[in-house]
Amino acid sequence: MANGLHQTMHQTLRHGGGLLGPGDLSQHLDIVRLRDGGSMTLRFVESDDAAALQDYFRGLSVASRYNRFLAAVGELPPGELEKTLHSGGNFFSILATLKSGGVDTIIGEARYAFDPVTAHFEFGLSIDDHLQGRGIGTVLLSNLQCRAVALGASTIFGDTLRSNEAMQALARKAGYSFAAMPSDWRLVRFEKSLDPTAETPCAGWRAHGREMAAAN
Ligand SMILES: CC(C)(COP(=O)(O)OP(=O)(O)OC[C@H]1O[C@@H](n2cnc3c(N)ncnc32)[C@H](O)[C@@H]1OP(=O)(O)O)[C@@H](O)C(=O)NCCC(=O)NCCS
Repeated sequence: MANGLHQTMHQTLRHGGGLLGPGDLSQHLDIVRLRDGGSMTLRFVESDDAAALQDYFRGLSVASRYNRFLAAVGELPPGELEKTLHSGGNFFSILATLKSGGVDTIIGEARYAFDPVTAHFEFGLSIDDHLQGRGIGTVLLSNLQCRAVALGASTIFGDTLRSNEAMQALARKAGYSFAAMPSDWRLVRFEKSLDPTAETPCAGWRAHGREMAAAN
């Protein structure tokens, strides 16, 4: 996860008014179509996902974990895990799952933060190494853009390592532009303008956006 995301989360949490509780968040679930015709479920992380989420991170390759966290970590540190398990305010963690043998398996995740003052939406994401390169990151990114528009974001962005070709290729294909990060030469920022008034293909997020606006 990009360091910038931490900063934005703290800022947005300060700006955030009422928190949406896990009960509210669990109502929101997206089922999205994948390139191979299968479907993937996107839902908010909940407290009882802790062990499965850590297993997912431990199962990522060393390179993927480094790209995701910008540091050599084996799993989420306890403080980060705690934050990840409790979405609310303007800071959210979601899981991407596939059904395998009747069981939901985590195959990806994303964290995002929305700052209502700047209308900026920051995110980081990862996909299971065994499933990378199949268009799943593209679908997850598109869903994140829906969430951003529904929250009223005018800009969506992320920070990644200059060496992370996959993330930059994904962002380039999705129409993002790139800028150097003067604060950290290792990083590049990918960014895209959004039209907050545009119709989003994920209608469920309109309701979430309205709830967020009401809560803040
Ligand atoms: C970055 C990441 C999320 C991309 O997810 P993904 O599911 O593999 O991405 P997609 O399959 O949708 O690929 C999108 C495009 O990126 C390009 N791409 C994907 N992997 C690539 C690679 N390793 N090298 C170069 N280009 C690549 C392809 O052009 C692809 O388009 P195409 O399918 O039309 O050819 C995934 O590689 C990942 O989880 N990496 C580890 C964690 C990470 O780096 N997170 C980003 C930090 S914010």
